[in-house]
Amino acid sequence: MNAPKHVAIILDGNGRWARSKGLPRNYGHIQGAKNVEKMCEITYNLGIQYFTVYAFSTENWLRPKDEVEAIMNLLRNYLKNCIKRAQKNNMCVKVLGDLSKLDEDLKSQIFELEKATKDNKGLHFQVAINYGSRDEILRAVKKIIEDTETKKIRKDGLNEELFSSYLDTKGIPDPDLLIRTSGEQRISNYLLWQLAYTELYFTNVAWPDFGEEELKEAIEVYNNRDRRYGAVKED
Ligand code: FPP
Repeated sequence: MNAPKHVAIILDGNGRWARSKGLPRNYGHIQGAKNVEKMCEITYNLGIQYFTVYAFSTENWLRPKDEVEAIMNLLRNYLKNCIKRAQKNNMCVKVLGDLSKLDEDLKSQIFELEKATKDNKGLHFQVAINYGSRDEILRAVKKIIEDTETKKIRKDGLNEELFSSYLDTKGIPDPDLLIRTSGEQRISNYLLWQLAYTELYFTNVAWPDFGEEELKEAIEVYNNRDRRYGAVKED
């Protein structure tokens, strides 16, 4: 099995998974968060170097207040325990998204976590929180305009590489494989620029049930895809 370098996942179906068992939606998020931890080990053991998960989108604020609070508290707990775990696993953690809208304590937790793990050479783990790809692109464009006005960069020097360096994913290679769990087949404002040539894989399995076997199956499908990046391959 040839592991993709970067796997990105849209963690979908926590709520439906819990409801199908007669349990509250928030229970699904708790199980979903536990699964993220488990998958960080599984991905790395399979040879994946970059793993990016969509934990909370710019649109998720529209959910009922108690659900938003429950997810934020899960993230809080997760980030708190993450420093210790990341040091043990040598994991480098980054948060993608507009952090300015998050509570102060979450912001400082994120700052500490990124600082403490930035030189780690194991799995590169990215968590998208208050992330929306259109928002990310707009923030990049505004910064580029600013840097052009202050003559830090020139309009003529702007190319795809330079533009990429203004995104939250600066320095991170584009995903090779995107997985969305739980049956929906859409991108939902996730990594629109970065997914330009990514292979897409959709599964009906809900995120809390998505484990090593399911990931291996996705990688097998990925291995059988013919990636041409718009070019032609000779037979
Ligand atoms: C999608 O399921 C899931 C979310 C919007 C939240 C995912 C967040 C976590 C698992 C929290 C923890 C994350 C980390 C990184 C520890 P859904 O609620 O949209 O499910 P549904 O489509 O069945 O309603």
